[in-house]
Amino acid sequence: MAGHSNYVPQSAAAKWLESRLPVISLMRGSFVDFPTPKNLNYWWTFGGILFFMLIAQLITGIVLAMHYTPNAGLAFDSVEHIMRDVNFGWMLRYLHSNGASMFFIAVYIHIFRGLYYGSYKAPREISWILGVIIFLIMMGTAFMGYVLPWGQMSFWGATVITNLFSAIPMVGDAIRTWLWGGFAVDNATLNRFFSLHYLLPFMIFGVVILHVWAFHTTGNNNPTGVQPKTKQDTIPFHPYYTVKDFFAIIVFMIVFAWFAFYVPNYMGHPDNYIEANPLVTPAHIVPEWYFLPFYAILRAVPDKLGGVAAMFGAIAVLFVLPWLDTSKVRSGAYRPLFKQFFWIFALNAVALGYLGAMPAEGTYVLLARICTVYYFAHFLIILPMLGFLEKPRPVPTSISEAVLKSGSGKPAGAAAAPETK
Ligand code: HEM
Repeated sequence: MAGHSNYVPQSAAAKWLESRLPVISLMRGSFVDFPTPKNLNYWWTFGGILFFMLIAQLITGIVLAMHYTPNAGLAFDSVEHIMRDVNFGWMLRYLHSNGASMFFIAVYIHIFRGLYYGSYKAPREISWILGVIIFLIMMGTAFMGYVLPWGQMSFWGATVITNLFSAIPMVGDAIRTWLWGGFAVDNATLNRFFSLHYLLPFMIFGVVILHVWAFHTTGNNNPTGVQPKTKQDTIPFHPYYTVKDFFAIIVFMIVFAWFAFYVPNYMGHPDNYIEANPLVTPAHIVPEWYFLPFYAILRAVPDKLGGVAAMFGAIAVLFVLPWLDTSKVRSGAYRPLFKQFFWIFALNAVALGYLGAMPAEGTYVLLARICTVYYFAHFLIILPMLGFLEKPRPVPTSISEAVLKSGSGKPAGAAAAPETK
């Protein structure tokens, strides 16, 4: 992350610190002087938004944990106690539960940004793979967090998902019992889910540091996909992108606040206000919206083990994406055919989300099967073939050329921002 800093310690204390622990030059090199492509659009602000959301979830979660009781007999009431008796407890809880949804909105936008602009391609494969690992841990964290209020959906969601492991041949039942810490979803399960739900966000934090380190080593991608060549192609991260990210975070917070303060239960399920009851199964067990596309894939396959394999496969395929896309051109902006398939893929993902919320019967199952096949075909057939079949549009020779052509209409190189000289 370092290596870009112009920092020269002035005071005796700063010199003393710099020669022992160069943390100031590391920070300045990473978040102040860091040369960043000058053409990043607003889709690039979602990394900063995600970082903000991670911190927000950590803070609200830590305070909630001070009043929550991870015991099957007390958990539901302790959440109601937070809502009614704890000062601003209702706000903490609604910020945390809606915060999870906002975190996923941001991460899906961030992932689709990467898919469109080819941010997963060389040399950023590691940034991408670390991102997929973050996404997996995020899903585990959210799943276990949803179990904690110990409502009907908490209990039955946990039961459905942990039962999936029993589909694994030979060792499935043993794994399920081991996950439960007993012979059903019960107190031991709730307790360990609480422990892990507290731990995993700190692991996310650690992987995020590696994620940032990786793309600071390769440099950021940008909408043209062309690597910066001269100093004119970049600007320092501060103040240009600190201000832009700050503005985007404020706008995002307004949307977040609207959900948390005006429609705090909009994204939740009413059944989760009924205490968990192992003797009453809800009519439809639906996961939170951000799991729905994967839930649709799970149920699209008639065989239980096949469904589990397809669901995990849907994420596993992302790990090898950098090697499936054969196109030499990085950014989708210059790939006419890819662009169309990208939007079909996005629509397909939304359709899977819708189908995941519908009952697994009749036409819904048929459509979910078609969408599941298309999901895998996109990565395993369409992307590898497009690289050979598609004729990309001419790619600009530099970021400056692209910016000046589309912006002022002046020829490339006619004007350069003075601060970049
Ligand atoms: C807690 C979650 C995450 C945080 C805090 C985070 C943070 C960031 C930040 C700050 C950036 C640079 C700015 C930007 O490009 O928006 C970035 C870039 C990137 N992220 Fe993430 N990210 C997260 C999750 C993910 C996930 C789930 C993926 C993919 C599956 C991913 C893939 C990438 C890639 C490929 C880049 C490089 C793009 C570039 O160089 O412009 N990230 N991330």
